[in-house]
Amino acid sequence: MADSLRDDDGVSNPSFNTHLTQLVDDAIARQPSRRALLKTGLGMAAIPFLGGLAACGGGDSPAVAPTPGNPAEQLLGFQSIPISGDDTVTVPSGYVATAFLPWGTPLITGAPNFAADASNTAADQEQQVGDNHDGMAFFGFNAAGDGFGSRSDEGLLVFNHEYINPEYFYKPDTDPANWLLPFTLEKARKGQAAHGASVAHVRRTGAGAWELVRNSQYNRRIHGNTPMSIQGPAAGQPSMQTTADPSGTLVLGMLNNCGNGRTPWGTFLTCEENFNGYFGWNGTLTPARTALEGRYGLSQAGFGYLWHTVDPRFDMAANRNEPNRFGWIVEIDPFSPASQPVKRTALGRFKHENAELVIAPNGKAVVYMGCDEVNEYAYKFVSSGTFDASNPTSPANRNLLSDGTLYVARFNAGATTGDRMGTGEWIPLVFGQNGLDATNGFADQGDILIKARQAADRVGATMMDRPEWVAANPNKPGEVFMTCTNNSRRGTPTESSNAIDGTTVAGQSRPPVDDANPRAANAWGHIVRWNETGGDGNALTFDWDIFLLAGQPSFTDQRAPSSNITMDNLFNSPDGLAFDSFGRMWIQTDGNFSNTGNFAGNGNNQMLVGDPETKEVRRFLVGPSGCEVTGITWTEDRTTMFVNIQHPGELGSHPRRPAGYGDNEIANDPTAFSQFPIAGVRPRSTVVVVRRSNGGVIGG
Ligand code: FEO
Ligand code: CA
Ligand code: CA
Repeated sequence: MADSLRDDDGVSNPSFNTHLTQLVDDAIARQPSRRALLKTGLGMAAIPFLGGLAACGGGDSPAVAPTPGNPAEQLLGFQSIPISGDDTVTVPSGYVATAFLPWGTPLITGAPNFAADASNTAADQEQQVGDNHDGMAFFGFNAAGDGFGSRSDEGLLVFNHEYINPEYFYKPDTDPANWLLPFTLEKARKGQAAHGASVAHVRRTGAGAWELVRNSQYNRRIHGNTPMSIQGPAAGQPSMQTTADPSGTLVLGMLNNCGNGRTPWGTFLTCEENFNGYFGWNGTLTPARTALEGRYGLSQAGFGYLWHTVDPRFDMAANRNEPNRFGWIVEIDPFSPASQPVKRTALGRFKHENAELVIAPNGKAVVYMGCDEVNEYAYKFVSSGTFDASNPTSPANRNLLSDGTLYVARFNAGATTGDRMGTGEWIPLVFGQNGLDATNGFADQGDILIKARQAADRVGATMMDRPEWVAANPNKPGEVFMTCTNNSRRGTPTESSNAIDGTTVAGQSRPPVDDANPRAANAWGHIVRWNETGGDGNALTFDWDIFLLAGQPSFTDQRAPSSNITMDNLFNSPDGLAFDSFGRMWIQTDGNFSNTGNFAGNGNNQMLVGDPETKEVRRFLVGPSGCEVTGITWTEDRTTMFVNIQHPGELGSHPRRPAGYGDNEIANDPTAFSQFPIAGVRPRSTVVVVRRSNGGVIGG
């Protein structure tokens, strides 16, 4: 197998050093009782570690009673930190970071411990925390401790497991040339079990740290074989029906759960992104690949997971419609452990990044969504029903995402071309409008939603530089930001556009630059901002501008960054994006961390904070080697922040990568490029808990 086919960035570069090892050894020396925990990483408590300790100049923080959030604190009240290439998490002075719930942590009652040699079985993995942590939301309990509320000391932490890194995920087998071989159904099942999401009942201890509540009824794994219902206009469509599910309404599992959303009625929205990578076909596909399948990037080999070679559900030659049942927003009620997750088809099928939900002035639920692939689109959904704020968890509220209108964005140049601002419009993807009818291959509304990318092609949506997360400013109704992470396929030579008839294969167009995507071969990415007309999420028009162009200030040509980028806050490939309730905009990166060439001065992937008014940006956190920083949530009082570190140890194109070194070599030497978060153990995706030593609001 070629190496590292599975990430969604294609630009990654780890570095290696022993700093983490030394820090953990120091921690053990200080508190020998932690030895077992640190050596095995199996404990249910948070694992103190890393830059937080180093940055605040001591051990774990003393017991400090968290104070309620103080809006009077400065918006950016911390000192920006320098870049780092270390295999650690670094946070500002006065903050403490601890690792929590890494891949393999026993979650379900009776779950086995994580095996450091990756020898856990599929059955084990179904009971343990999954891999590649991503989007995440904290739901506080109510006062009685039996449902959704606003407590900041105890709640349910729900977090996605986007994919697996087979080179770290599987213990080498008998073929010395390929650790994955022979590939078996058991291995496919283990991989499927590590996808999806975890629901973890967590609480703050008296000392201010966080622990998993063992044996809680709420602890749950939802994975690639968990039954879930298909609901909304696409449910039951002919193209959603399979031999195993003739009704087209019940699917096994969710896959490639990337970013997320959080509803005011206490549910978690999880977003299926690169689902295409898990499918393939054996032999010949008859009839040949359709335009729809090509438009969503389905291919014979997929991303190299090999599931289709052992599990017929992922063999398109045997189950042609199964891929249509993936690529959706899934709604999960974490407080109802027996409830079935629901795929909400009214929100459309594409490579979903996240789902930012706001309640419009008239009570409609508005969900903003990006489709992450080069030259894809930004969408929003507006519910038909309205939110009843007086009874948040009412059945009617809980069904708001079942019916509504899906729109796609067009970014126009406005009055002046070339000024990186303009006007925009939301175009409805509704049967019978804008050419979305049988004449152009759309049978009905359900069919449009399954073919959302093709419908957006038809109506002339704007091809963007890989839409990632969307975030709405809580202090300015109607103001919304979206990261465009990067785009290697824009500008000369040989420009082309997504064909109006939906026949363009995923990722194959190469549009010219435009006002909203102003740089050819955009290596660093940017953040676009729009303001809905009248501050109303129902609006069909908006004004937009570019909030930030990442880059390198020494460039003075068209590649130059915006003026709010300086040598002190360099970064590339903005991806995760979220506002806290005070209006700080948190920016997470998944980019090139070679720290050379175009990316010199960027260091490891990181998290920054932006002031949406002044546009000032400061660096708050730097992740370990080879990671992506993604997923962020807070307790209600904003004194605890949870952040995810995904895929530490990714090799990518590391400049010190030995010649011929690839996934097979990593599989046989899994501690070579990262040992995060536990010294001596293969790298594992991990939640990081961030607190202030004084118990104050994070970032203030
Ligand atoms: Fe899964 Fe687009 O990040
Ligand atoms: Ca303009
Ligand atoms: Ca992402």
